[in-house]
Amino acid sequence: MDICDVIQRQHDEQRTEFAILEQWPRDDIEGLEAIWNRLAILLETHALAEEKHFYPQLLTLGTGGADAGGVDDEVEDAIKDHNSIRDCVRRANAEKAGSEAWWKAVVDANVANSTHMGEEERQDLADFRQQASLELRHELAIKLLREMAMEAAKGITPVDRDADEYVANDKDDSLGADAKNTDLPDTSLTASETE
Ligand SMILES: [Fe+2]
Ligand SMILES: [Fe+2]
Repeated sequence: MDICDVIQRQHDEQRTEFAILEQWPRDDIEGLEAIWNRLAILLETHALAEEKHFYPQLLTLGTGGADAGGVDDEVEDAIKDHNSIRDCVRRANAEKAGSEAWWKAVVDANVANSTHMGEEERQDLADFRQQASLELRHELAIKLLREMAMEAAKGITPVDRDADEYVANDKDDSLGADAKNTDLPDTSLTASETE
């Protein structure tokens, strides 16, 4: 397993679930609510597990991928994006499923999530694939999936994080020498322009 592949597959699942909602019969309120609830659980458990088992290790090993202005910017952006997605999820949960305000919040969640996933794949996953060893990526895949299963079983309450505080305090300093990918250069590929 590889945490980067697991994250990317879950992004595909999120895209698919938004597409299912778009095509769902508009008068099946119970069905819309159930599909949305499942998607909201996936969005929150995914973000939470990334914050516990992906970003702290990226902060330690990453150098900034593609158009990221460096690893701190990369992570700060991601945490802020997670909070924006949480805002939309909270808004949708406060509205009646199928109502105009509910659909606006759902579509806003899709926009925020879509923008975030593109950036996460292009910057964060690309950086981690270049800088983290396969052993670490396997180990973190198990931790991420375990975390998500445990959280989903408990039910979810989205809680925002302070992005600056996260970057300053959540770096994983416990990584050993085998955490580094030694087959590729010490800095990740970057674009001609960064943020
Ligand atoms: Fe993600
Ligand atoms: Fe994310």
